[in-house]
Amino acid sequence: MIHWIDGRFHAAQIKARLQIDVADVEMRHQRRPGLHTIIVGKQKASHDYVRLKLKAAASVGLNGTSRQFPEDVTETELIFHIQQMNADDDVDGILVQLPLPAHLNVSRIIHTIAPEKDVDGFHPQSAASLITDSTGFVPCTPLGCLYLLYAEGIQPKGLGAVVVGRSAIVGRPMAHLLLRENATVTSCHRHTQDLYRHTRAADIVICATGVPHLFRPEHFKDGAIVIDVGQGRLPLDGGQDRLVGDVDKDALDDEKYSLSITPVPGGVGPMTIAMLLANTVEAYRRRTRAALPTLRERFHEVLPDV
Ligand code: GUN
Repeated sequence: MIHWIDGRFHAAQIKARLQIDVADVEMRHQRRPGLHTIIVGKQKASHDYVRLKLKAAASVGLNGTSRQFPEDVTETELIFHIQQMNADDDVDGILVQLPLPAHLNVSRIIHTIAPEKDVDGFHPQSAASLITDSTGFVPCTPLGCLYLLYAEGIQPKGLGAVVVGRSAIVGRPMAHLLLRENATVTSCHRHTQDLYRHTRAADIVICATGVPHLFRPEHFKDGAIVIDVGQGRLPLDGGQDRLVGDVDKDALDDEKYSLSITPVPGGVGPMTIAMLLANTVEAYRRRTRAALPTLRERFHEVLPDV
């Protein structure tokens, strides 16, 4: 049997809880938490993502802005703008939508974001904190994946987890997060020999390669939990394309296989956005010392160790 893990459902639950807390904190502190985004150039996908994030932010009562810069903005100008946001008390979360045009040094730009406002969890200090003291922000997609595991009653502790893909945004932080949760973690990537030997042995597989339909159901063992982070596109007849994951969903025969798996769309995507909102409310709580539940308390029932 195939058990579909419903990311939209879990994301809606998180947002409902955040909405109550945001309304409460606004009444007491006369200010809503604010998520402020920067977008460079005209890439449609980036604009679509930022629009979705700000719509979700508004739906739970957060303030949100999108500052758009032309494709040829200088690094100095962008850094100056981030420094202004760092100094602005009404800004709780800063998000620079990636990718950036090639002439900009992404590392220097992300480094400029104040770590206490780094709700994407991309700052080197946030990355370091994931493997040291756990005080920084955890990147939203890995955090969303971990949330889904716990929400589905899966304790990673002691299980064999394979993370396929080692990007700075998903694969690497995901591997560290699972390690922190006491899973036995294997990190696979494009140079891994006999990839499927690893995935077939795993209790949990996180597919984060971005290669559409790289995996088929026979690449997982019976009873495995598969989190599909892929957001690829495959052409449809008639010139359109469709959003697909790393796993070939069409091959998942309900009679033949026993798997728990996240669909694409409707799995990890909505969780990434929900975690961004949760990180923003957490940034507000930390900066203002508002009497709000911590991220740990907020997710305690499902996420005992965040
Ligand atoms: N580009 C693709 N995913 C992300 C994300 O999670 N955050 C940002 N800032 N840019 C992205």
